[in-house]
Amino acid sequence: MQILKRVGGWLWERLGLQRPWDFAGRHPVQPEQATRKGWMYVFGAATMTAFLLQVVTGVALATKYVPSPASAYESLIFINQEVWLGWFVRGMHYFGASAMVVFISVHVARVFLTGSYKYPREMNWIFGVMLLVLTMLMAATGQLLRWDQNGIWTVVVGSQLLGHVPLIGPRLTEFVLAGDAVGGATLSRFFAFHILILPALIFLTVGVHLYLVLHHGVSEPPEAGKPVDPETYKEWYDERAERGGYRYWPDAAWREVVTALAIIVGVMLLAYIFGPKGPDAPPDPTMIAADPRPDWYFRWYYALLAVKPQGWEPFFMVYLPLGALIAMFLLPFVAPKGERHPKRRPWAILIVVVVVTALGVLTELGMRAPWAMEFETVPLSPEVVGVAEGPVWTGAQLFHERGCQFCHVAAGQGGQYGPDLTDVTRRLPPEMIVTRTINGIGQMPAYRDMITRDEMDAILAFLRSLEAPR
Ligand code: HEC
Repeated sequence: MQILKRVGGWLWERLGLQRPWDFAGRHPVQPEQATRKGWMYVFGAATMTAFLLQVVTGVALATKYVPSPASAYESLIFINQEVWLGWFVRGMHYFGASAMVVFISVHVARVFLTGSYKYPREMNWIFGVMLLVLTMLMAATGQLLRWDQNGIWTVVVGSQLLGHVPLIGPRLTEFVLAGDAVGGATLSRFFAFHILILPALIFLTVGVHLYLVLHHGVSEPPEAGKPVDPETYKEWYDERAERGGYRYWPDAAWREVVTALAIIVGVMLLAYIFGPKGPDAPPDPTMIAADPRPDWYFRWYYALLAVKPQGWEPFFMVYLPLGALIAMFLLPFVAPKGERHPKRRPWAILIVVVVVTALGVLTELGMRAPWAMEFETVPLSPEVVGVAEGPVWTGAQLFHERGCQFCHVAAGQGGQYGPDLTDVTRRLPPEMIVTRTINGIGQMPAYRDMITRDEMDAILAFLRSLEAPR
């Protein structure tokens, strides 16, 4: 005991820990942080906990995962079935990701509602918005690493949508795919972003964010009729904290510790009960996923893209997200002072209510009827096709097998996602039909590596046969 104390004391002094400890642990806090209202401040720590869980489980997974198209899927099956506790760690990584998305969203909403982005915390908010974006990028890149039908097709369709961005659209698609179709290079690129680049950026950004939180202190709960005045705020705030006599550790920090433990236990329980997420069907570039849906936190966006009117891609793909992001970045500069209490900022409540409702409704839509695709299609019957052999018949079968029917109506059957192809041979010359299928167009995925010349000819023969009046 005596030895431990002496070693500890020696290290404490030699490492110069007193100053960082005073700064991070022993600073005076607002009285509310140490009382029941303190619970409203735990969501940042909750997000941090989820992130650290992701780092630990992610590093563990990276030691067993093989980021190559030939082995990625197999390696996940191996982790699920053979590696000790592999299934459990994968489950934790999935539910940890969900937790991080949930907590960062609640944290942003809380900071917005209490006007905590105002003076002097404008930069806390800016770095917070960056963290929100980085978190969503982590969630997006993680999905592809499962390298199953869902993961791959989500990226295929998503990257096609990116092509709608004016001017740089095609370049963006190429950047995301690391080429012009999903393949090994895409997987490497997503892997590098998911385990190196984005985490490094998150660590840096979190570092600045936390430093700023400590430097400016947590905002006191807003009081209606007490606007922020940059002239007097800091002095008033510091004096208020000193007067309360509470220190961050342990008066306020214990709530964050309890929250962190609850999250760790919760994520473990979810992983234990529900197990890992996927991988679902093995990737097969010649088969479209029966139901290519992204993970739940992106469903709202896919639903939005499905219900949007035709031709509105640039608006929903580019201007809406970009506009929202710019608005978030500008917010603290547009309203750096004044009232913080939501009662005096009814528009803030309105925005949160509208956004939460829209996300809820769209997520629900995305869960039930994702996109306007029709996944329940069955192959056309010989009666509809007219023959039961030959290229026309083969083409009709391929039209179903290759997934065309999910998105296109032909002979009165199929999904509404793309144009009706019943009369396409009358509208377009055959070469055009082939190039559009091979290269993709708009939200139509490129079939380049997924279809052979013979198969394409058969599909063409089938489409041509529809021209004849029946
Ligand atoms: C993910 C849904 C989806 C799948 C799967 C799909 N398409 Fe498409 N396709 C579309 C959409 C959306 C368009 C319209 C693109 C645009 O004009 O922006 C389209 C357009 C086309 C066009 C051009 C039609 C026209 O009137 O301009 C052809 C031809 C076509 N698809 C053929 C096929 C074939 C053949 C297959 C199967 C090998 C297929 N598509 C699979 C969504 C899909």
